[in-house]
Amino acid sequence: MPGTQDQVYARWRNEPERFWAEAADSVHWYRRWNRVLDASRPPYYRWFSGGVVNTCYNALDRHVASGRGDQPALIYDSPVTQTITCFTYRALLEQVSRFAGVLKGQGVGKGDRVIIYMPMVPEAAVAMLACARIGAIHSVVFGGFASHELAARISHAAPKVIVSASCGIEGNRVVPYKLLLDKAIELAAAKPSRCIMLQRPQERASLVPGRDADWSELMAGAQPAECVPVEATDPLYILYTSGTTGMPKGVVRDNGGHLVALTWSMKYIFGVEPGEVYWAASDLGWVVGHSYILYGPLFNGNTTILYEGKPVGTPDPGAFWRVISQHGVRVQFTAPTAIRAIKRDDPGGEHVRRYDLSRFRTLFLAGERCDSDTLGWAEQRLGVPVIDHWWQTETGWPIAANCLGLGMLPVKPGSCARAVPGYDVRVLGPDGSEVPAGQTGSIVIKLPLPPGCLPTLWNNDAGFVQSYLSAYPGYYLTADAGYKDADGYLWVMSRTDDIINVAGHRLSTGAMEEVLASHPDVAECAVVGVADALKGEIPLGFIVLKAGVRHAPEAVAHDLVAMVRERIGPVACFKTATVVPRLPKTRSGKVLRGTIKKIADGIEYRVPPTIDDPVILDEITAALATLGYPHR
Ligand code: COA
Ligand code: AMP
Repeated sequence: MPGTQDQVYARWRNEPERFWAEAADSVHWYRRWNRVLDASRPPYYRWFSGGVVNTCYNALDRHVASGRGDQPALIYDSPVTQTITCFTYRALLEQVSRFAGVLKGQGVGKGDRVIIYMPMVPEAAVAMLACARIGAIHSVVFGGFASHELAARISHAAPKVIVSASCGIEGNRVVPYKLLLDKAIELAAAKPSRCIMLQRPQERASLVPGRDADWSELMAGAQPAECVPVEATDPLYILYTSGTTGMPKGVVRDNGGHLVALTWSMKYIFGVEPGEVYWAASDLGWVVGHSYILYGPLFNGNTTILYEGKPVGTPDPGAFWRVISQHGVRVQFTAPTAIRAIKRDDPGGEHVRRYDLSRFRTLFLAGERCDSDTLGWAEQRLGVPVIDHWWQTETGWPIAANCLGLGMLPVKPGSCARAVPGYDVRVLGPDGSEVPAGQTGSIVIKLPLPPGCLPTLWNNDAGFVQSYLSAYPGYYLTADAGYKDADGYLWVMSRTDDIINVAGHRLSTGAMEEVLASHPDVAECAVVGVADALKGEIPLGFIVLKAGVRHAPEAVAHDLVAMVRERIGPVACFKTATVVPRLPKTRSGKVLRGTIKKIADGIEYRVPPTIDDPVILDEITAALATLGYPHR
């Protein structure tokens, strides 16, 4: 044990470069770095510059070489297809090397982009690792996004190849991915030269001659490809995430810093030893999937679970406990919303008692604020510690957590505990000075960010600085607000921008407003995230119609719901738009979204002194009342 969280944090603070150099010793390097931290071009910091690595080598080859070849690397557990398949490290390496050969055969090389738009099937993981193997940059797009969102990512990343599947399975519904993909390519400004399609038996897709190729056919004739050494600072992947506009931000992850940080986090934050089974119940399309379904566990020599199912309904609220018991999961990571869904369907925990959970050690929750009821329910029913931790797509690994591998701090429900070594977290007031303990402010991280965090945005250095580094010079803006208490525990309370968290999925209300505003009958609109007992938050749309519109308000609202589903995707969960006479605004024209949210959530609010006409708030209150808000 290297010490407690506080001791290790202090050691990092005293000698940060030495700390990370020591952590980097657990990684395989073809060539060690010249500089641990390259700070020659602030605010663009680079970790392990001069170092040469391969991410896939560290995830697979290294473990086979050291005797883990026969250990399960990945267990695909799919209640929706009644399948359980186990890939040993050797078998996964074989598949990945072959698919790397397929990509090479399609002309994909170092620095080329490959978009992966797939459901939760092992081939998605194989495609990601194959890209890493040959130094190509993958960009995984979550399957719940529709064609327009996919098209925006294709246009921006300009991939040489897209890897996809004929369909996804959502509960008992088959989602035809291929139709969405074809439409996206039609819409996109950049066209891939090849689409590699995994044909699933639930629904086969027709292939476009000359453009599409069958995954299995290509694999059958492929030559395995070896690892291509890359610079530690070369990009491993781009992951698009919601920003404040319709255009998502292309978060870049490098190879070296990512390897070091994730390997460290598996041991010291999640407290898992090589050989143990670790399960992040998320989707490969999100950062949790990248970091903790795929890379982290494999870097650390764990067995990871790829679960194609839901917490409830596939087939029942015991699904998670069945997986944990059947595969001997030691540590699970999921979103609070998944636990809320289980708790809703099985409040007494009957399903927990059906399974032997004796090997299960800890549950980690992140992705959204965890209410203490949910945390308490899980602790009580499961009989294990439940740890809330906080991070973002941009950081790629936890900023604040109760580090299980460093012993445990006392749990304070509602807080994500303390900053993790590597992160100097501060809470600032509007004037940029630190606020006292207990006082809410903007949560920032003092630069440089630790290894593994985004070095920039794809093809957008200026956007990186503008979005994250310009509000408080010298600090990275998390866009979360909250406070530190007297014990140094961090309480992350809300976003400071228009991002909402729907069932742990990060979405932009600004992007939804762009869709609504494009309707010919809409004069003005506002989308607000309101509290939801299951999903944490859901979006509600408020519309002002143009004068003289002949369509019925209900018909327009219905169109708008369909448009958001069609343009952004079902994952936006945009189910309600309501027509109001006016939107409440300040005299300078800023829509008072925060006040609308408070009314919907039944939270006391002060009529803002800058409002142009307070009567509008009564109109909004009446409109919300007809929708049943606030819920009592
Ligand atoms: N491909 C296609 N469609 C998808 C999809 C995918 N990969 N993922 C979700 N969708 C669809 C769903 O089918 C649903 O469609 P519907 O409106 O037709 O019902 C819609 O997107 C919303 O999905 P979701 O938010 O998942 O809601 P749900 O009602 O199906 O399930 C929960 C509710 C709570 C069970 C579910 O949200 C859940 O498991 N959440 C955990 C979140 C999580 O793991 N987050 C990752 C961060 S850690
Ligand atoms: P994503 O980039 O999708 O991982 O979303 C990151 C955002 O989710 C953060 O900026 C927070 O707003 C929210 N979030 C994630 N984890 C937590 C947590 N443990 N507590 C509160 N908010 C969280």
